[in-house]
Amino acid sequence: MLFLNGLAERTREEDRGPEKTAQRIKFMEKFIEKKFNIGELKGISSKNIEEHLKLYAGYVKNSNLISEKISEYMSDYEKNAYVIGELQRRFGFEFNGMRNHEYFFGSLEGGAKSLPVNSQFKMAIEKITPSFEAWLTGFKTLTMTRGVGWAALYFDKQTNQLIPAWIDEHHMGQLNGLNWIIGIDMWEHAFVYDYPTSEKKKYVEAFFANLNWEVIEKNYLEACSTR
Ligand SMILES: [Fe+2]
Repeated sequence: MLFLNGLAERTREEDRGPEKTAQRIKFMEKFIEKKFNIGELKGISSKNIEEHLKLYAGYVKNSNLISEKISEYMSDYEKNAYVIGELQRRFGFEFNGMRNHEYFFGSLEGGAKSLPVNSQFKMAIEKITPSFEAWLTGFKTLTMTRGVGWAALYFDKQTNQLIPAWIDEHHMGQLNGLNWIIGIDMWEHAFVYDYPTSEKKKYVEAFFANLNWEVIEKNYLEACSTR
C-alpha cells in the first residue's frame, strides 16, 4: 500500500504503555497548487478559464485532504480500515484530477504556437498516419466519446509508440507508466460558459486553435529522452 512509502513518525505516549503506542504516518508530502499564465484565448472565455481554475484548486485541496485524513486514521488502522480504504479509492480521482488539469492548463500557457520546424513529434505522427492533419482529425473524434472525461495521447517508452486513450472522469482508463503528451478536458465544466453541450465540437476546435504546440513537442521530447 502507498502508506508504506510514507515517513513514519512514531510518537510514544508513555502514560498509555508500550502496547498502546500511537503511530503517526505521514502519508505523503503536500501538493502545491500551481499558477498558470494563460492570456486571452479565442473561443474559450476568461470566465470559463477562471472558474475552471477554481475547480483545479479543489483537486489539489482534496488530494491533500485525503492524505491528511489517511495519516490521521492510520493512528488506529484496525478501527479505521474501511474508511482508509475508501479514502484510498478516491485518491486516484482527486490526484489525477489535479495532474490532468496541470497538463491541460500548461498546454494553454504562452498562447497559440505551432510545432517547431523539424518537429520530432510531428515526424512520429507521420510515421503512423497518412498526414498530421489526418491524425488530428482522428484525435478530435476521440474527444467526442460519450461521457465526462479526457481525451489523451500518451507515449509508451516500452514499445516506443504514441497511444491515444479515453479516460473516464479523471482516472479510469489512465495507462500505467506512460508519459502524458496531450490531454483535453471533456468535462462540461471546461466549456459550459461558452458552448451548449450539443456544440462541444466548437470547444474542441477552440482548444486546438489556442494550443501551444511547443509544449506538446517538449512533452514528447522529454518522454523520449527518459527511455
Ligand atoms: Fe476540468
